[in-house]
Amino acid sequence: MDQAADIAEAVAALKGGGLVILPTETVYGLAADAGDPRAVAAVYAAKGRPAFNPLIAHVADAAMARRIAVFDDRAEQLAAAFWPGPLTLVLPIADEAAVCDLARAGLDTLAVRAPAHPTARALLDAFGGPLVAPSANRSGRPSPTTFADALEETGGSAAAALDGGPCRIGLESTVVSLLDQPRLLRPGAVTRAEIEALIGPLSEAEADAKRSPGRLARHYAPNLPLRLNAEEPRDGEVFLGFGPLSQGSLNLSPEGDLTEAAANLFAYLRAADRSDARGIAVAPIPGEGLGEAINDRLRRAAGFVG
Ligand code: TXA
Ligand code: MG
Repeated sequence: MDQAADIAEAVAALKGGGLVILPTETVYGLAADAGDPRAVAAVYAAKGRPAFNPLIAHVADAAMARRIAVFDDRAEQLAAAFWPGPLTLVLPIADEAAVCDLARAGLDTLAVRAPAHPTARALLDAFGGPLVAPSANRSGRPSPTTFADALEETGGSAAAALDGGPCRIGLESTVVSLLDQPRLLRPGAVTRAEIEALIGPLSEAEADAKRSPGRLARHYAPNLPLRLNAEEPRDGEVFLGFGPLSQGSLNLSPEGDLTEAAANLFAYLRAADRSDARGIAVAPIPGEGLGEAINDRLRRAAGFVG
């Protein structure tokens, strides 16, 4: 089917209160009309997601974002620099009706992001309003980075599904709160250094669950036990290597490239889960740049607080 027909079908599904599997440049999402509480409830149900964990409102551009959230100078600067792209801003809410209470988990703040993937942009343009879209995995599982993985996770709950190919980035967006002092709630492909260069130092996310409700300890987790900073596999373990010196068939990046490793991470965790191994060992990954986000996801997948 051609893209225009697929988009039209997806818009019709959304207008009818249905859910749509949506490709973005970070990970696949499960999208719903942000203003439709029944559709949003169906998203929580499909994921098995606790209702205290709010969703990101996806917008076509900054103009759409300004209708639903209050932008200050810092938000304007970050949106101008990184949108469309893998950056989510947490801001005070401007229009309570556009994004229903359930989608915000009752908070008076809103997470907004303008995704860069051409299919996501086409859908948002055609729909004409904000869409909530959590990662399309069932709660606690690794986010899907391919169409097949998205279908396997939550495809059964979707009225339409858009195939956008493998996700270019492979890790969820960076989340920055601008409610008071800027805070990094979730590291991602827009790095700490890139954000700090524009708006100054970022504070850490607080452990306080109310401020960063999605930051549960165990998250993004494969079924098999995960061992981090491993130099080599032990008996029965599948090994996710990194760099030219790592042995093993599942090397996250033989070249030692963090962008490539991020793009492969969730798909390789899933592949490891499908093997007959008894555990997963992961080589050390450098912590700078995109490495901060990769190590954050690995620590959570292994069950450590980040
Ligand atoms: O890359 C992404 O952001 C993907 C794609 C599909 O766009 N979406 C995604 O959504 O990762 P989700 O729901 O899996 O993660 C949203 C994160 C959660 O950690 C949630 O707690 C946080 O954003 N969040 C949402 N609204 C918030 C708010 N008002 N205050 C603080 N954190 C918020
Ligand atoms: Mg998620």
